[in-house]
Amino acid sequence: MITGNTRLFGIVADPVDQVRTPQVLNRLFEQRGHDAVLVPFHVGADGLPRIFEAFRQIRNLGGFIVTVPHKVEALALCDEIEDAARAIGAVNTIRREPDGRLVGGMFDGIGFVAGLKARGHDPAGRRVLLLGAGGAAAAIAHALALAGVGSLTIANRTLSKAREMAERIAASAPGVRVEAGVADPSGYDMVVNATSLGMRPDDPLPLDVATLSSGTLVAEIIMKPEMTALLGQAQARGCPVHLGRHMLEEQAALMAGFMAGGPGASR
Ligand SMILES: NC(=O)c1ccc[n+]([C@@H]2O[C@H](COP(=O)([O-])OP(=O)(O)OC[C@H]3O[C@@H](n4cnc5c(N)ncnc54)[C@H](OP(=O)(O)O)[C@@H]3O)[C@@H](O)[C@H]2O)c1
Repeated sequence: MITGNTRLFGIVADPVDQVRTPQVLNRLFEQRGHDAVLVPFHVGADGLPRIFEAFRQIRNLGGFIVTVPHKVEALALCDEIEDAARAIGAVNTIRREPDGRLVGGMFDGIGFVAGLKARGHDPAGRRVLLLGAGGAAAAIAHALALAGVGSLTIANRTLSKAREMAERIAASAPGVRVEAGVADPSGYDMVVNATSLGMRPDDPLPLDVATLSSGTLVAEIIMKPEMTALLGQAQARGCPVHLGRHMLEEQAALMAGFMAGGPGASR
Protein backbone atom coordinates (compact mmCIF):
# COMPACT_ATOMS: atom_id res chain seq x y z
CA MET A 1 0.00 0.00 0.00
CA ILE A 2 1.44 3.37 -1.01
CA THR A 3 0.77 6.02 1.66
CA GLY A 4 1.88 9.58 2.32
CA ASN A 5 4.93 8.16 4.12
CA THR A 6 6.14 5.93 1.28
CA ARG A 7 9.72 6.69 0.22
CA LEU A 8 10.14 7.08 -3.55
CA PHE A 9 12.87 5.64 -5.79
CA GLY A 10 13.15 5.51 -9.57
CA ILE A 11 14.98 4.12 -12.56
CA VAL A 12 15.61 6.50 -15.46
CA ALA A 13 16.18 4.98 -18.90
CA ASP A 14 15.42 5.28 -22.62
CA PRO A 15 13.90 2.86 -23.57
CA VAL A 16 12.64 1.74 -20.18
CA ASP A 17 10.34 -1.24 -20.83
CA GLN A 18 13.23 -3.77 -20.76
CA VAL A 19 14.52 -2.92 -17.24
CA ARG A 20 14.23 -5.55 -14.52
CA THR A 21 15.33 -3.36 -11.61
CA PRO A 22 11.77 -2.43 -10.49
CA GLN A 23 10.85 -6.10 -9.98
CA VAL A 24 14.11 -6.89 -8.17
CA LEU A 25 14.21 -3.76 -5.94
CA ASN A 26 10.49 -3.76 -5.06
CA ARG A 27 10.76 -7.44 -4.03
CA LEU A 28 13.74 -6.52 -1.85
CA PHE A 29 11.86 -3.58 -0.23
CA GLU A 30 8.95 -5.93 0.54
CA GLN A 31 11.20 -8.65 1.97
CA ARG A 32 12.86 -6.08 4.23
CA GLY A 33 9.58 -4.47 5.28
CA HIS A 34 10.58 -1.05 3.83
CA ASP A 35 7.76 1.41 3.05
CA ALA A 36 9.31 2.23 -0.34
CA VAL A 37 8.54 1.91 -4.03
CA LEU A 38 10.73 2.10 -7.16
CA VAL A 39 9.08 3.16 -10.42
CA PRO A 40 10.34 3.48 -14.03
CA PHE A 41 10.86 6.92 -15.62
CA HIS A 42 11.11 7.02 -19.41
CA VAL A 43 13.41 10.02 -20.04
CA GLY A 44 15.51 10.76 -23.11
CA ALA A 45 18.99 12.30 -23.10
CA ASP A 46 17.66 15.82 -23.76
CA GLY A 47 15.49 15.68 -20.62
CA LEU A 48 18.14 14.37 -18.24
CA PRO A 49 19.39 17.72 -16.80
CA ARG A 50 15.84 18.87 -16.02
CA ILE A 51 14.99 15.53 -14.37
CA PHE A 52 18.03 15.92 -12.10
CA GLU A 53 16.90 19.45 -11.20
CA ALA A 54 13.36 18.24 -10.47
CA PHE A 55 14.60 15.29 -8.36
CA ARG A 56 16.58 17.70 -6.16
CA GLN A 57 13.24 19.28 -5.17
CA ILE A 58 11.35 16.07 -4.32
CA ARG A 59 11.86 15.68 -0.57
CA ASN A 60 10.46 12.15 -0.25
CA LEU A 61 12.73 10.83 -3.04
CA GLY A 62 15.47 8.55 -1.64
CA GLY A 63 17.38 8.15 -4.88
CA PHE A 64 17.28 6.74 -8.39
CA ILE A 65 19.08 4.45 -10.77
CA VAL A 66 20.18 5.52 -14.25
CA THR A 67 20.80 3.10 -17.07
CA VAL A 68 21.08 3.05 -20.87
CA PRO A 69 21.95 5.59 -22.29
CA HIS A 70 22.48 7.88 -19.28
CA LYS A 71 25.32 6.41 -17.19
CA VAL A 72 28.11 8.64 -18.52
CA GLU A 73 26.15 11.90 -18.89
CA ALA A 74 24.65 11.49 -15.39
CA LEU A 75 28.11 11.72 -13.81
CA ALA A 76 28.46 15.42 -14.66
CA LEU A 77 24.96 16.16 -13.34
CA CYS A 78 25.65 14.85 -9.83
CA ASP A 79 26.73 17.19 -7.00
CA GLU A 80 29.15 14.63 -5.56
CA ILE A 81 30.73 11.46 -7.00
CA GLU A 82 32.08 8.35 -5.27
CA ASP A 83 35.76 7.59 -6.02
CA ALA A 84 35.03 4.36 -7.93
CA ALA A 85 32.45 6.05 -10.17
CA ARG A 86 34.91 8.84 -10.95
CA ALA A 87 37.63 6.32 -11.87
CA ILE A 88 35.18 4.43 -14.12
CA GLY A 89 33.72 7.59 -15.66
CA ALA A 90 30.06 6.67 -15.12
CA VAL A 91 27.38 6.43 -12.42
CA ASN A 92 24.39 4.09 -12.16
CA THR A 93 22.96 4.86 -8.71
CA ILE A 94 22.24 8.27 -7.22
CA ARG A 95 21.31 9.09 -3.64
CA ARG A 96 19.34 12.21 -2.76
CA GLU A 97 20.64 13.76 0.45
CA PRO A 98 18.14 15.54 2.78
CA ASP A 99 19.37 18.94 1.48
CA GLY A 100 18.69 17.89 -2.14
CA ARG A 101 22.30 17.18 -3.17
CA LEU A 102 22.66 14.21 -5.53
CA VAL A 103 25.52 11.77 -4.84
CA GLY A 104 26.49 9.32 -7.61
CA GLY A 105 27.93 5.81 -7.24
CA MET A 106 28.65 2.94 -9.64
CA PHE A 107 27.68 -0.64 -8.74
CA ASP A 108 27.83 -2.60 -12.03
CA GLY A 109 31.35 -3.85 -11.37
CA ILE A 110 31.15 -4.59 -7.66
CA GLY A 111 27.77 -6.24 -8.31
CA PHE A 112 29.43 -8.49 -10.87
CA VAL A 113 32.29 -9.41 -8.51
CA ALA A 114 29.83 -9.97 -5.62
CA GLY A 115 27.82 -12.27 -7.94
CA LEU A 116 30.95 -14.29 -8.74
CA LYS A 117 31.90 -14.62 -5.08
CA ALA A 118 28.34 -15.55 -4.05
CA ARG A 119 28.64 -18.54 -6.37
CA GLY A 120 32.07 -19.61 -5.18
CA HIS A 121 34.15 -18.02 -7.96
CA ASP A 122 36.53 -15.67 -6.14
CA PRO A 123 38.43 -13.83 -8.92
CA ALA A 124 41.46 -13.11 -6.69
CA GLY A 125 44.64 -14.37 -8.35
CA ARG A 126 42.81 -15.59 -11.48
CA ARG A 127 43.93 -14.80 -15.05
CA VAL A 128 40.93 -13.03 -16.57
CA LEU A 129 40.06 -12.24 -20.20
CA LEU A 130 37.44 -9.48 -20.40
CA LEU A 131 35.60 -9.09 -23.71
CA GLY A 132 34.32 -5.56 -24.36
CA ALA A 133 35.37 -2.01 -23.49
CA GLY A 134 31.99 -0.27 -23.09
CA GLY A 135 30.38 1.12 -19.94
CA ALA A 136 29.70 -2.21 -18.22
CA ALA A 137 33.16 -3.55 -19.12
CA ALA A 138 34.82 -0.44 -17.60
CA ALA A 139 33.04 -0.97 -14.29
CA ILE A 140 33.81 -4.70 -14.29
CA ALA A 141 37.49 -4.14 -15.15
CA HIS A 142 37.81 -1.68 -12.27
CA ALA A 143 36.13 -4.03 -9.77
CA LEU A 144 38.11 -7.08 -10.94
CA ALA A 145 41.36 -5.15 -10.54
CA LEU A 146 40.35 -4.07 -7.01
CA ALA A 147 39.39 -7.71 -6.25
CA GLY A 148 43.02 -8.65 -6.90
CA VAL A 149 42.91 -10.66 -10.13
CA GLY A 150 46.25 -12.20 -11.13
CA SER A 151 46.07 -10.52 -14.53
CA LEU A 152 43.46 -8.80 -16.66
CA THR A 153 43.42 -8.76 -20.47
CA ILE A 154 40.85 -6.57 -22.23
CA ALA A 155 39.84 -7.49 -25.81
CA ASN A 156 37.49 -5.33 -27.84
CA ARG A 157 36.34 -4.90 -31.44
CA THR A 158 37.67 -1.34 -31.28
CA LEU A 159 41.15 -2.08 -29.97
CA SER A 160 41.95 1.57 -29.18
CA LYS A 161 39.16 1.57 -26.57
CA ALA A 162 40.61 -1.58 -24.96
CA ARG A 163 44.05 0.07 -24.84
CA GLU A 164 42.69 3.26 -23.26
CA MET A 165 40.74 1.27 -20.71
CA ALA A 166 43.74 -0.92 -19.84
CA GLU A 167 45.84 2.20 -19.22
CA ARG A 168 43.17 3.77 -17.03
CA ILE A 169 42.63 0.63 -14.95
CA ALA A 170 46.37 0.00 -14.57
CA ALA A 171 46.75 3.55 -13.22
CA SER A 172 44.03 3.06 -10.60
CA ALA A 173 45.19 -0.46 -9.57
CA PRO A 174 49.00 -0.37 -9.70
CA GLY A 175 49.63 -3.92 -8.36
CA VAL A 176 47.66 -5.68 -11.13
CA ARG A 177 48.91 -6.59 -14.64
CA VAL A 178 46.37 -5.06 -17.04
CA GLU A 179 46.78 -5.05 -20.81
CA ALA A 180 44.83 -4.93 -24.05
CA GLY A 181 44.84 -8.16 -26.08
CA VAL A 182 42.91 -10.43 -28.39
CA ALA A 183 39.77 -12.52 -27.76
CA ASP A 184 41.66 -15.83 -27.44
CA PRO A 185 40.76 -17.60 -24.16
CA SER A 186 43.74 -20.01 -24.21
CA GLY A 187 45.53 -19.95 -20.88
CA TYR A 188 42.89 -17.96 -18.96
CA ASP A 189 41.05 -19.12 -15.81
CA MET A 190 38.03 -16.93 -16.51
CA VAL A 191 36.42 -15.26 -19.54
CA VAL A 192 33.83 -12.50 -19.08
CA ASN A 193 31.58 -11.44 -21.95
CA ALA A 194 30.83 -7.74 -21.35
CA THR A 195 30.03 -6.97 -24.99
CA SER A 196 26.43 -6.67 -26.10
CA LEU A 197 26.89 -9.73 -28.37
CA GLY A 198 24.46 -12.47 -27.39
CA MET A 199 21.29 -10.45 -26.89
CA ARG A 200 19.99 -11.15 -30.40
CA PRO A 201 19.63 -14.67 -31.80
CA ASP A 202 21.65 -13.81 -34.92
CA ASP A 203 24.59 -12.25 -33.03
CA PRO A 204 27.99 -13.83 -33.74
CA LEU A 205 29.82 -15.36 -30.75
CA PRO A 206 32.25 -12.96 -29.03
CA LEU A 207 35.03 -15.59 -29.31
CA ASP A 208 35.84 -18.90 -31.01
CA VAL A 209 34.50 -21.51 -28.54
CA ALA A 210 36.78 -24.16 -30.04
CA THR A 211 39.64 -22.39 -28.25
CA LEU A 212 37.99 -22.75 -24.80
CA SER A 213 39.42 -25.38 -22.46
CA SER A 214 37.12 -27.18 -20.02
CA GLY A 215 38.62 -25.60 -16.89
CA THR A 216 37.84 -22.03 -17.92
CA LEU A 217 34.91 -20.31 -16.19
CA VAL A 218 32.76 -18.48 -18.76
CA ALA A 219 30.80 -15.57 -17.28
CA GLU A 220 28.09 -13.58 -19.02
CA ILE A 221 26.50 -10.24 -18.14
CA ILE A 222 23.64 -10.40 -20.64
CA MET A 223 20.43 -11.22 -18.77
CA LYS A 224 18.11 -11.96 -21.69
CA PRO A 225 18.40 -14.65 -22.91
CA GLU A 226 19.66 -16.18 -19.67
CA MET A 227 21.52 -18.97 -21.49
CA THR A 228 23.26 -17.13 -24.33
CA ALA A 229 24.76 -19.01 -27.28
CA LEU A 230 28.20 -18.46 -25.69
CA LEU A 231 27.15 -20.01 -22.37
CA GLY A 232 25.36 -22.91 -24.09
CA GLN A 233 28.34 -23.77 -26.26
CA ALA A 234 30.82 -23.28 -23.40
CA GLN A 235 28.77 -25.60 -21.19
CA ALA A 236 28.68 -28.20 -23.97
CA ARG A 237 32.50 -28.12 -23.96
CA GLY A 238 32.50 -28.82 -20.19
CA CYS A 239 33.21 -25.26 -18.99
CA PRO A 240 31.58 -23.98 -15.79
CA VAL A 241 29.32 -21.02 -16.62
CA HIS A 242 28.06 -17.98 -14.69
CA LEU A 243 24.79 -16.22 -15.61
CA GLY A 244 24.26 -12.50 -16.28
CA ARG A 245 21.41 -12.20 -13.77
CA HIS A 246 23.74 -12.88 -10.82
CA MET A 247 25.26 -9.44 -11.42
CA LEU A 248 21.95 -7.63 -10.98
CA GLU A 249 20.85 -9.86 -8.08
CA GLU A 250 23.92 -8.95 -6.03
CA GLN A 251 23.87 -5.35 -7.22
CA ALA A 252 20.30 -4.78 -6.03
CA ALA A 253 21.13 -4.94 -2.33
CA LEU A 254 24.22 -2.74 -2.86
CA MET A 255 22.20 -0.11 -4.76
CA ALA A 256 19.40 -0.13 -2.17
CA GLY A 257 21.93 0.26 0.65
CA PHE A 258 23.64 3.17 -1.11
CA MET A 259 20.37 5.01 -1.80
CA ALA A 260 19.41 4.51 1.85
CA GLY A 261 22.65 6.22 2.86
CA GLY A 262 24.81 3.14 3.45
CA PRO A 263 28.46 2.63 2.53
CA GLY A 264 29.42 3.67 -1.01
CA ALA A 265 30.83 2.13 -4.13
CA SER A 266 34.35 3.28 -3.48
CA ARG A 267 35.19 0.39 -1.18
N1 LIG B 1 23.70 -7.98 -15.84
C1 LIG B 1 23.71 -6.70 -15.56
O1 LIG B 1 23.41 -6.27 -14.42
C2 LIG B 1 24.13 -5.71 -16.64
C3 LIG B 1 24.49 -4.39 -16.27
C4 LIG B 1 24.92 -3.50 -17.28
C5 LIG B 1 24.96 -3.92 -18.62
N2 LIG B 1 24.60 -5.21 -18.94
C6 LIG B 1 24.68 -5.68 -20.35
O2 LIG B 1 26.02 -5.52 -20.79
C7 LIG B 1 26.05 -5.34 -22.20
C8 LIG B 1 26.97 -4.18 -22.56
O3 LIG B 1 26.42 -2.98 -22.01
P1 LIG B 1 27.24 -1.60 -22.05
O4 LIG B 1 26.44 -0.61 -21.28
O5 LIG B 1 28.67 -1.83 -21.68
O6 LIG B 1 27.17 -1.24 -23.63
P2 LIG B 1 28.17 -0.32 -24.46
O7 LIG B 1 28.82 0.70 -23.61
O8 LIG B 1 27.38 0.09 -25.66
O9 LIG B 1 29.34 -1.34 -24.96
C9 LIG B 1 29.08 -2.38 -25.88
C10 LIG B 1 30.32 -3.25 -26.04
O10 LIG B 1 29.98 -4.34 -26.94
C11 LIG B 1 30.85 -4.29 -28.09
N3 LIG B 1 30.09 -4.64 -29.29
C12 LIG B 1 28.86 -4.20 -29.64
N4 LIG B 1 28.50 -4.74 -30.83
C13 LIG B 1 29.53 -5.52 -31.24
C14 LIG B 1 29.77 -6.34 -32.38
N5 LIG B 1 28.86 -6.45 -33.37
N6 LIG B 1 30.94 -7.03 -32.46
C15 LIG B 1 31.86 -6.92 -31.47
N7 LIG B 1 31.69 -6.17 -30.36
C16 LIG B 1 30.55 -5.47 -30.25
C17 LIG B 1 31.33 -2.85 -28.17
O11 LIG B 1 32.52 -2.79 -28.92
P3 LIG B 1 33.03 -1.42 -29.60
O12 LIG B 1 33.72 -0.64 -28.50
O13 LIG B 1 33.95 -1.85 -30.66
O14 LIG B 1 31.81 -0.73 -30.11
C18 LIG B 1 31.51 -2.54 -26.67
O15 LIG B 1 32.70 -3.11 -26.17
C19 LIG B 1 24.60 -5.14 -22.63
O16 LIG B 1 24.15 -6.36 -23.17
C20 LIG B 1 23.87 -4.85 -21.33
O17 LIG B 1 22.53 -5.28 -21.36
C21 LIG B 1 24.21 -6.10 -17.97
